[in-house]
Amino acid sequence: MTHRGPAARGRFITFEGIDGAGKSSQIAAAVAALRARGIEVEQSREPGGTPLGERLRELLLHEPMHLETEAMLMFAARREHLAARILPALEAGRWVVCDRFSDATYAYQVGGRGLARDKFDALEAWVHPDFQPDLTLVFDLSPAVAAARMSASGAHPDRFEREQRDFFERVRDAYLERARTAPPRVCVIDADRPPERIQAEIERLLAERFFA
Ligand code: TYD
Repeated sequence: MTHRGPAARGRFITFEGIDGAGKSSQIAAAVAALRARGIEVEQSREPGGTPLGERLRELLLHEPMHLETEAMLMFAARREHLAARILPALEAGRWVVCDRFSDATYAYQVGGRGLARDKFDALEAWVHPDFQPDLTLVFDLSPAVAAARMSASGAHPDRFEREQRDFFERVRDAYLERARTAPPRVCVIDADRPPERIQAEIERLLAERFFA
C-alpha cells in the first residue's frame, strides 16, 4: 500500500458583489465545476454557515441596529464560522466556497454605512490575523441594473436590499477599491454579461489559479 501523507490544505474561495449581481447561480456552477475535478467542496455563506451564524443572520438581515453592532455581529458570526467550519475543512483538505466574507464587511459597513476604517481593521485583525481567501471574485454591476434584477425576482427585500441607490454606489466603489489594493487575491468580474460567459470566465480563472 502506498503511504499517503497529510491532505494538502484546501483552498478558500469567496464570492462578493452588491445585492442583485447574480452571484448565487455562479457559486453553484463553480462548486459543480470543482467537484467535477474530484475536489471535495463545502459551500457556505455569510453571515451564516453555522447554526449560531444562521441565527445571527436572521437578526442582521431583519433587526434594526447600530452600525457598530452590525459590524461586530458580522465578525462574531465569522469567528464562529472560521472556528467551527472553514478552518477545519481547509485543514482536512476540503475546499470552501463561500458567498461573502470580510470584503463584504469592508464594502457594506465601511463603504456603504461609513464605519470607521480603523474599527474594521481592528476587527479583521482580531478575527482572522494572517488569513485571507485564496481567491475572491467581485461581481461588478451598476446598482441600476442590479436593482432591476432584484425587483424582477419578486423576493421580499431584507434590511440591506431596501437601501437606496447611492448606498449601493458606495458599496460598489468600496469593492473596487479593495480589488485595487489587494490584487491578485481579488478579481473583478463584469457581471453585466450573459451568465454562460461569466461562468466560462470563472472556470478559466479557477483553472489558471489552481490547476495550471
Ligand atoms: P446575501 O448573502 O446577498 O444573501 P441573499 O442573496 O440571500 O440576499 O445577503 C446578505 C446581506 O448581508 C447582503 O445584503 C450583504 C450583507 N452583508 C454585510 O452587510 N456585511 C457582511 O459582512 C456580510 C457578510 C453581508
